[in-house]
Amino acid sequence: MGLAPVWRLRKTQAGGPSAGELADGDWITLKQAVPACTACALHKARTQTVLGVGDEKAQWMLVGEAPGAEEDRLGEPFVGQAGKLLDNMLAAISLKRGENVYIANVLKCRPPGNRNPEPDEVAKCTPFLKQQIALIHPKLIIAMGRFAAQTLLATDASISSLRGRVYKYEGVPLIVTYHPAYLLRNLPDKAKAWADLLFAKRTMASL
Ligand code: URA
Repeated sequence: MGLAPVWRLRKTQAGGPSAGELADGDWITLKQAVPACTACALHKARTQTVLGVGDEKAQWMLVGEAPGAEEDRLGEPFVGQAGKLLDNMLAAISLKRGENVYIANVLKCRPPGNRNPEPDEVAKCTPFLKQQIALIHPKLIIAMGRFAAQTLLATDASISSLRGRVYKYEGVPLIVTYHPAYLLRNLPDKAKAWADLLFAKRTMASL
């Protein structure tokens, strides 16, 4: 009948489905489900959820950790200092936020005081990211930092040991690099991130 598919819910609850209850679906339902989510305690302190930004048909998808204060205020990922560096990193490989690029985080809500995500928060939120990746179906994912890499690759290996190889997440090629906020604190590692971006560019060209 040409109707858009809707999420198949294993059950419904007041306030909308939680991430774990989404089985299949479309952007419209995802965009309703994320702001309605109360699956973990982070919903209590958020100003708003931060789903992601960019081209929903992008070939490039970048995944970070979680919204910070600015992202929580504005509803867009990577708009603070780390975001400025990320935009510069993208520009260095001739990419631009929103143009064939989609940016998301593992968590859709800000952890208070910018603390690290807790394992249960990651577990509850990951189905949203998984659905985003399925809907965008990018050609290449760049996992930025420990939480994105370890979540998508289901490993506890370090970033330094994961860099420089092409992995697959649900069939989508994935490479790992440092998180921009880490690079702001560890300037010498910017050279390694630059090498990762060139590797990503070469990998994309080969796909
Ligand atoms: N750090 C992240 O991982 N994501 C953001 O959106 C902002 C900072």
